[in-house]
Amino acid sequence: MTSIIKNRILIFGSNGMLGQRLTERYQKDDNIELYCSSFEEESFIQNVNYKKVDLADKKQIKSLINEFYPDIIINAAAYTAVDKSEEEKELAWAINADAPGKISKYANAIDAKLIHISTDYVFDGSNGPYDEKEVPNPVNYYGRSKLAGENAIKANLCKHAILRTNVLYGPAKYGKMDFVKWVVSSLRDGKSIRIVEDQINNPTYIDDLVQGILKVIEFEKEGIYNVSGKEFLDRYNFTLRIAEFFNLDKSKIEPITTSELNQLAKRPLKSGLITLKAETEFGFKPLQIEDTFQLMKKELNL
Ligand SMILES: NC(=O)c1ccc[n+]([C@@H]2O[C@H](COP(=O)([O-])OP(=O)(O)OC[C@H]3O[C@@H](n4cnc5c(N)ncnc54)[C@H](OP(=O)(O)O)[C@@H]3O)[C@@H](O)[C@H]2O)c1
Repeated sequence: MTSIIKNRILIFGSNGMLGQRLTERYQKDDNIELYCSSFEEESFIQNVNYKKVDLADKKQIKSLINEFYPDIIINAAAYTAVDKSEEEKELAWAINADAPGKISKYANAIDAKLIHISTDYVFDGSNGPYDEKEVPNPVNYYGRSKLAGENAIKANLCKHAILRTNVLYGPAKYGKMDFVKWVVSSLRDGKSIRIVEDQINNPTYIDDLVQGILKVIEFEKEGIYNVSGKEFLDRYNFTLRIAEFFNLDKSKIEPITTSELNQLAKRPLKSGLITLKAETEFGFKPLQIEDTFQLMKKELNL
């Protein structure tokens, strides 16, 4: 009789945009024993092992890791409200900086590997796009807290991979709207929208990030990897591409500059992430933008 040893994977933030898609992907995998956890009482995805964990409470983190004893931990949780991070500094720091430090400490104790998700907001956006060797210099509190999270993981010396990404969108079905869904919904409702034309990055289809996570695990990679979209473009042009694909009224899209928005948090302008390392080391291959829209249209009836 052959015995099958399953990989035990624990996801933090399983109700988030990325977390939902990861959960759905691993739920179908017979070789994985999955445990999910997020901030809500219940899992958005049905029929999974799930426990509510508040990442601000280190005892809850420790007890779930020690109870489930995972081989791999994926931290898809974060305090992602960029402007609110300027006001709720303590909470942003607890979730984005302290929690990854705790998770990596407990992961190290049981020799589990941590896959952690970070952001291009660790950079200042003065001369992007950035590769993995570029020196971070965040310009807002969200970016500072995410960089501190990366550093805490490195300091704890657990086996880890940090995947940096930017502007996530895709077919997550629950929770907040991503940028693409917001543009489609606003223009369908006949609303006018003002979109910045001076913020450049490479928007990332969530399932491409899921693909990157799967490959990092499969090829047992460690260190920092950029896992992001195929094309670099400013947000106004990205919006025009959305409107074009979904047959929406482009005249309702007004180009503006970031300074006109008067946001609490400063934004990196010339940003984005070069994905050559992920492409060459583990064959990461992001989809064309219009192909991702096609997949969203089909899955969400957009
Ligand atoms: N979205 C983007 O455009 C983007 C860009 C670059 C990098 N990233 C990074 O990618 C990762 C995934 O982002 P995402 O867009 O999927 O984020 P998301 O949808 O905001 O999901 C984050 C999850 O973390 C949970 N969380 C927050 N505070 C928590 C706490 N105290 N205890 C337990 N869970 C808590 C959230 O729960 P609640 O919803 O209940 O708060 C949510 O389910 C994050 O590391 C983010 O920094 C995202």
